[in-house]
Amino acid sequence: MSDEVRYQSGFGNEFATEAVAGALPVGQNAPQKHPLGLYTEQFSGTPFTAPRATNRRTWTYRIRPSVTHRPYEEIAAGLIRSGPFVEVPTTPNQLRWDPLPLPDKVTDFVDGIITLGGNGDPAMQTGIAIHLYAANASMDDRFFYSADGEFLIVPQLGELRFHTELGILEVAPGEICIIPRGLKFRVELLGKQARGYMCENYGLPFRLPELGPIGANGLANSRDFKAPTAAYEDRDGDFHITAKFLGRLWSAAIDHSPLDVVAWHGNYAPCKYDLALFNCINSVSFDHPDPSIYTVLSSPSAVPGTANCDFAIFPPRWMVAEHTFRPPWFHRNLMNEFMGLVFGAYDAKAEGFVPGGASLHNCMAGHGPDAETFERASAAELKPQYLDNTLAFMFETQLVVRPTGFAMNTRILQHEYFECWQGLKKRFAAGPGAASPAE
Ligand code: FE2
Repeated sequence: MSDEVRYQSGFGNEFATEAVAGALPVGQNAPQKHPLGLYTEQFSGTPFTAPRATNRRTWTYRIRPSVTHRPYEEIAAGLIRSGPFVEVPTTPNQLRWDPLPLPDKVTDFVDGIITLGGNGDPAMQTGIAIHLYAANASMDDRFFYSADGEFLIVPQLGELRFHTELGILEVAPGEICIIPRGLKFRVELLGKQARGYMCENYGLPFRLPELGPIGANGLANSRDFKAPTAAYEDRDGDFHITAKFLGRLWSAAIDHSPLDVVAWHGNYAPCKYDLALFNCINSVSFDHPDPSIYTVLSSPSAVPGTANCDFAIFPPRWMVAEHTFRPPWFHRNLMNEFMGLVFGAYDAKAEGFVPGGASLHNCMAGHGPDAETFERASAAELKPQYLDNTLAFMFETQLVVRPTGFAMNTRILQHEYFECWQGLKKRFAAGPGAASPAE
């Protein structure tokens, strides 16, 4: 971690931070005259009238207000797509992809975004987009924001330094970060290359899930989320802001860095979280709780218990369930499941699902362990087993994830995915002692 990076703890806490002493007004939000000549600007992530528990806003004290830029003009969006996702028909088939190849020409974080699918519509503030990114260059004179949604970023390869309006976050594989809707940022690569996954959440901001009978602690604890302290750039130059607005990309010239917030206070802020700190809760007797026990963050919909998007992880953990088939069982469901793998192997698949790869099981599509995993897990000795070196995750969403044209036509799509289940043979025998028809 570099010297200038400092964090403050808590998820959505009311933070107060200043990079220069005296920059944060005391006792009020908007003084008539700021003592250091800073402009006051409120940054709201929810309606003013949102309930207190979910209201998100931050007061910023900046060198220039955000309005000081030239007009935006549309630019090519490359392979970025947004809802409504209607490029190609949505197949009911199970889908799986190899990792995105790393770029061979100069590609920054924004240029390196490719959309695999999504649902809903940013114009309706519902749904998500699922992007991959692969980059080999830092953003220096280019800044980015999305008015369409917040970003939940899951690095798989290469550490990233996010320079944001509200401070700096360094995020490595095994960690995640959240960039709130509207927050401007640029991404510096701390290694030669970077790759990962992004959920662009058009809906309500991600929050910690309720814990119900689990109690006051467990799963992702608030104190383990890290927000940046104030850090600003006082930099003039020939810069550009790229805005994502209603699915299109727009670019505006600006003669200074928009990352010029010297002090801020509020609860609408980026944050990062180390997934190794997730407190896993699971069966210590038999059978499986549903995978909702692995929920790190949830973007609720208007329907109770029905997420616009849940972010769940499958981290290293003990497996102790007795007389139980331990890998995830065969399953069909209403919700739609996009999975990625940060490192290691996933316990429901013997091969084919590799770090950087992805799978999609949409509404009512059968899925589950492949034939090889079924055979092995059915015969395994059920002593306590530590599942090591694994970090898979899921974006689980209420609406069908509609793949993009890229997702269906790319050579990284595994057309043979269905084969992994074809070896699941008939095992039924009508009664004790009856010969198995499969034999
Ligand atoms: Fe499932």
